[in-house]
Amino acid sequence: MTDHGMDNGLTNYGDKDFARFLRRSFARSMGLSRAMLAKPIVGIAMTPSGFNNCHRYMPDLVEAVSRGVLAAGALPRPFPTVSLGEVFLNPTSMMYRNLMAMDTEEMISAQPMDAVVLIGGCDKTVPAQLMGAASANLPAIQLVTGPMMTGRHKGQRLGACTDCRGFWAKYRAGSIDKDEINTVEGRLSVTAGTCAVMGTASTMACIAETLGMSLPGTAAIPAVHADRLVAAEETGKAAVRLIGTKISPRDIITQKSVENAFRVLQAVGGSTNAVVHLAAISGRLGIKIPFSRFNELSDETPVLVDLKPVGEGYMEDFHAAGGMGALLRELKPLLHLDTIDVEGRTLGERLEEPLDWVNPAVIRPFNDPVSRDGGLVALTGNLAPDGAIFKRAAATPALFESEGRAVVFTGLEDLSNRIDDPDLDVRPDDVLVLQNAGPHAAGMPEAGYLPIPKKLAKAGVKDMVRISDARMSGTAFGSIVLHIAPEAAVGGPLAAVRNGDRIRLSITKKQINLLVDDTEIRRRLADHRPPPAPARGYKSLYRRTVLQAPEGCDFDFLTQGADR
Ligand code: FES
Repeated sequence: MTDHGMDNGLTNYGDKDFARFLRRSFARSMGLSRAMLAKPIVGIAMTPSGFNNCHRYMPDLVEAVSRGVLAAGALPRPFPTVSLGEVFLNPTSMMYRNLMAMDTEEMISAQPMDAVVLIGGCDKTVPAQLMGAASANLPAIQLVTGPMMTGRHKGQRLGACTDCRGFWAKYRAGSIDKDEINTVEGRLSVTAGTCAVMGTASTMACIAETLGMSLPGTAAIPAVHADRLVAAEETGKAAVRLIGTKISPRDIITQKSVENAFRVLQAVGGSTNAVVHLAAISGRLGIKIPFSRFNELSDETPVLVDLKPVGEGYMEDFHAAGGMGALLRELKPLLHLDTIDVEGRTLGERLEEPLDWVNPAVIRPFNDPVSRDGGLVALTGNLAPDGAIFKRAAATPALFESEGRAVVFTGLEDLSNRIDDPDLDVRPDDVLVLQNAGPHAAGMPEAGYLPIPKKLAKAGVKDMVRISDARMSGTAFGSIVLHIAPEAAVGGPLAAVRNGDRIRLSITKKQINLLVDDTEIRRRLADHRPPPAPARGYKSLYRRTVLQAPEGCDFDFLTQGADR
């Protein structure tokens, strides 16, 4: 009989019986009876942190999951991992997603458990947990913390963080004053939970449910809703059932379920960041969706969910309107229905169940979409030979086919030093270019949402074409080309752009091109040298091993082929 529960993976002293005796003895010091220690164990990867507002209700969720595990006859064992609060990390949370994924994978594998519940929410935590679980390949189930509720300001609903950006743009343009922006500061993030719009956290919650890694109907329940605790209790029970079925992430995360997830990403008008995270999660299992297929999915899948930043509503509206169940039913003809979820049920079986009620103003019918094309499109061209991403659903259609003069910033510091310089030579039809903000150079921060130069913002300019090798927050909007690969720091053509060059964007052709002769581009890149790697520590590991955006910015030694 194979070991289970507390006897899983005994510490190696060269005497197995002694290892078992010692472990049980120490476990007894936690007040656990022999009867409890004989039960199967569900680990609970918990991520509370004084630097993570989105996870403020984590203790309540851990308690509710534990209740479900106990009720189903197993022993819950919560354990901490790295927690990543999006806005509290320097230089960028993205740099630490892989650290959290490694922590999650190793703690699942090293500690004695038969299944694991992963509780995350804020942007990088859910992808990190799914990456770690995919590699550890123990039966696993994802629970998200759920979205925030909205606040109010002068009768207007506010939600982090699309409205943060809207109000900050008004403040920069001088249309609201310091007192008002200070008041708004206290009205944007008013409850526990993740950002209230279809940003990265909400997108990843929808993706986790579509993949089949979380219980049906749980992605959009608000963080403070009683149903969130019920979902946590049910997740605990489901984790115990997983011990019996032994369904593992590799059974659930497949080429087909990843394609379904990309469809949902398009239909919710979701975050560009999810493209990177899904590539990293699926890359752990050797699954790759090429950009050509990504664009097919985009062209076939309409945007159906009317939430900010693409539309008007907030996650609380999505939940009340029918949530993921309603959306998946609208998408049913496009989905692979033979994928399975953590309960072993096929998507087709799930979608046969009757639906409660749907608000078509928030979750639009397939034949009356928010937009006929999917939210995101992949670009290629001589500026992005390995690809780039453009969120057409949150951009200005008048800029989809445009050509302009490059105004180049060579890095983040150069950008912050000069963007508001009154003498900056910039016009509304220029293309703002940010170099050296990719994974290798800077950990790929959310700097791709370059601010409109103050003098243009004050003159009423609301959008311009902006291009970079950086990312952008899922809550942001604008005509912005992101994730250009290869990045400038490793000698990608983006590094060759100079002030005054012409750049052409064509969303119809899915191209971003530098209108400079190939020979001249090569000449400019001939002397390019990557920046030196930091000498020690995690940042050194990161710089030496991080892959480009199309590979999900994972570490080269963590992708498939580096099996445990
Ligand atoms: Fe955590 Fe937005 S800051 S989800």
